[in-house]
Amino acid sequence: MIELKDESPPGNGRRGFLKRLLAGIFSAVLGLVPLGAGLTVLLDPLRRKAGSDDAVPVTSLDALPEDGVPHKFPVLATRTDAWNKFTQVPVGAVYLRRLSGGKLQAFNVVCPHAGCFVDFDAEKGGFLCPCHNSTFTVDGKIADRSSPSPRALDSLEVEVRDGGQVWVKFRNFRAGHAEKIPVA
Ligand code: FES
Repeated sequence: MIELKDESPPGNGRRGFLKRLLAGIFSAVLGLVPLGAGLTVLLDPLRRKAGSDDAVPVTSLDALPEDGVPHKFPVLATRTDAWNKFTQVPVGAVYLRRLSGGKLQAFNVVCPHAGCFVDFDAEKGGFLCPCHNSTFTVDGKIADRSSPSPRALDSLEVEVRDGGQVWVKFRNFRAGHAEKIPVA
């Protein structure tokens, strides 16, 4: 019978094992770096989707008379889902008002009660929701306390850029709540 002898100096076995373990951990860590970079590229469209609700140009200032009467405009935006990009798709609509002194107001057209589109009634000088008769003043406040809407019309951030383009930070908010809760 042949006996195999361990001819390595005492302690070498454990040291060798530790070296191999450390080498293994080092290689694993090095392998994670390209994996992380690859995932970042792969998931990039998802990250861009999260930021897709930035301000968009809606119209030119010239299209808004300075009389405070609201005018309705569609909102077009570029949307990116996981791996596709859609340019200039309709994402909603807004009412824009231009007041004297150059001040602008923007409202989402969606009624905060249950999501119908409100109309502007020029004769009455206010907004009316045709679904359950919520009424709003021209500046978006609830006009009649018996209105079922739990809050005023949803105002939006609006500004003039590029020497005359009206940009709106378009958002949708959850219907049926007293607070404005943005829809993700
Ligand atoms: S959805 Fe507007 S009043 Fe109900």
